[in-house]
Amino acid sequence: MTTTTTGTVPVIGAVGTAHTRIEGRDKVTGAARYAGEIPFAELAHGWLVVSTIARGRIRSIDAAPVLAMPGVLTVLHHGNAQPLESDYVGPMGTPDPALQLFQHDRVPYAGWPVALVVAETSEQAREAAESLTVAYDEEPHDVVFAAGHPEAYVPAGNPRAEAEQEKGDLAAELAASAVVVDSEYSTPEEHHHPMEPHAAAAYWDSGRLEVVDSNQGSIFVAQELARLFSLDQSAVRVRSEHIGGGFGSKGTRPHQVAAAMAATILHRPVRVVMTRRQMFSLAGYRSPTAQRVRLGADPDGRLRALDHQGLNQTSTVHEFVERSADVARAMYDADAHHTVNRVVRLDVPTPTWMRAPGEAPGSFALECALDELAEKCDIDPIALRARNEPTVGPISGLPYSSHRLLACFEEGARRFGWGDRDPRPGVRREGRWLLGTGTAAASFPTLVAPSTAAVTAEADGSYTVRITAADIGTGARTALALVAADALEVTPDRVTVLIGDSDFGQAILAGGSMGTRSWSWAVTLAARALREQLALGGSVPPEGITARSDTAEALGTLPPRERHAFGAQFAKVAVDIATGEVRVRQMLGVFAAGRIVNPLTARSQFLGGMVWGLSMALHEEAVRDETTGTVVGADLAGYHVAANADVPLIEADWVDDPDEDDPVNIKGIGEVGIVGVAAAVANAVWHATGVRHRHLPIRPDRVL
Ligand code: MOS
Repeated sequence: MTTTTTGTVPVIGAVGTAHTRIEGRDKVTGAARYAGEIPFAELAHGWLVVSTIARGRIRSIDAAPVLAMPGVLTVLHHGNAQPLESDYVGPMGTPDPALQLFQHDRVPYAGWPVALVVAETSEQAREAAESLTVAYDEEPHDVVFAAGHPEAYVPAGNPRAEAEQEKGDLAAELAASAVVVDSEYSTPEEHHHPMEPHAAAAYWDSGRLEVVDSNQGSIFVAQELARLFSLDQSAVRVRSEHIGGGFGSKGTRPHQVAAAMAATILHRPVRVVMTRRQMFSLAGYRSPTAQRVRLGADPDGRLRALDHQGLNQTSTVHEFVERSADVARAMYDADAHHTVNRVVRLDVPTPTWMRAPGEAPGSFALECALDELAEKCDIDPIALRARNEPTVGPISGLPYSSHRLLACFEEGARRFGWGDRDPRPGVRREGRWLLGTGTAAASFPTLVAPSTAAVTAEADGSYTVRITAADIGTGARTALALVAADALEVTPDRVTVLIGDSDFGQAILAGGSMGTRSWSWAVTLAARALREQLALGGSVPPEGITARSDTAEALGTLPPRERHAFGAQFAKVAVDIATGEVRVRQMLGVFAAGRIVNPLTARSQFLGGMVWGLSMALHEEAVRDETTGTVVGADLAGYHVAANADVPLIEADWVDDPDEDDPVNIKGIGEVGIVGVAAAVANAVWHATGVRHRHLPIRPDRVL
């Protein structure tokens, strides 16, 4: 036990001290088993068949030859699949039609699931699936995303965040501005691709549908499956013990539905694993964005006008809004302020949340535009941000729960040596390399959602925590053990944390940077209730003593605030004048993101976000072929992500920033790490070369 200090309240405990992952040894020795490798007796293997056309109808599926192949058990398609419920509002709203597996003959995009072949072995299923003849009646399609698409529209808002918000007279303030930046930016289609592909095994046991899965929220998947299959919630159990990455892609997806359908028909366990290629159309992705930012300022850089317009694509069957413009609402005030997120429907798969949805592409545009404004006003980029530091939410008018952006910049500038920076672009040369540095701000909303937890005092003096949390690689399981230990006032080795089982009840999924915060809140309340019970005295019976919590009521009384984590990103780049290659030489991120539960895994999480930001800046780009509607080179050879050689000196750290409204002072760190990184790199490339790059990725052919 060590003594740490958060805010002004000294506490004795485990939170704030470095701990390796509880399941780390199991993971590196292979003892930890993932959904695709857990054995079941009588397991059959399903292989999805996806459409090869981008729009049209299935004319026929010739299953007979495939059914005669070795080991093949069944072929499910729209001609024989069981009906599913479609008229409901599930845990994620109206269901993604891609979950309505094999319910009709229409094909809305390339890679749409059209059949499932089930066989005794995975190899047999694959061979049969690849032999299945599906005939289509093709229709013309449009997959071309571009700024100013004539069919772009402003989506209907939701109560928490309208797609369009404005205050003041934008045209007047722009006209009155001494300095104006008006720039268009774009980011390409990007894919999450966690190392572990999506996989689920389903079987029936004593009248219950059991699903062993890899997901970000087992109760969410269980609730969605219950609705789809018209089952009582208590008749579905979903477990997800270890997850090899999620990043927003691992919600309810066609593979769980397919496995459940096949298990129902075959009366035996069926597993469906997505291929890497199938993940390009079945697992969601980040939409390409086209953005326009207009900034109007006085000569000293004070903003008079801020206009951020974002556009993203969605499918023809389901709406997803990439809220690129929202980031401006939290970051910078202006006398006139306008933000809008527009959408256009194309014959493409439905995008979804991908790490820092909205903020990641939005901060690229906004933070590059700020850098352009700093150049035009001839003031330092950090000084420009300080000049426009809001005291209350620019649109909401609410006070911030805490706002330590400038503390991040101060600490980052000191460590990065920003004070010695020569602001002139294109003047630092080292052999064939041009050198530059850049910075950008980061933010991400601090959210929390109702969750329940149970904590049991065992007869042997240990404690067991049960919560439907998900550890998608973040270290959440370990964080919860530390939080529980502190709340129980015991050492973490006396706490066992059981997660990833929908039978543990309602809890928010691992997403929106709110998992650990929401779960820790529930675990803390349950642990406190348990201590009160134990304080009454008496011995612990063999079945233990259990206390439960539900945070719904406590969250209902949270005071209204602008709640965000913040960060300052710094990058140093070298640009090869002969090849146009950009090498990042150094990155530093300093964050204000609430109390840090486990500095060891938190640092990894920040670094992971920053590496992804580097990858976004320089490498990642899914190119959709206009003719076929598919992604070209749909694998990890064709889709470039940063590798170790791309990641040089990289550091993440944080400033003290306890959230006073949270019982553990947590804010959440899952997504803020990627925000602003691409802008910091792009701004550094400008500083090196004198050329603005407003379209990602900054490929060598664009640099030359
Ligand atoms: Mo994250 S993109 O909220 O799963």
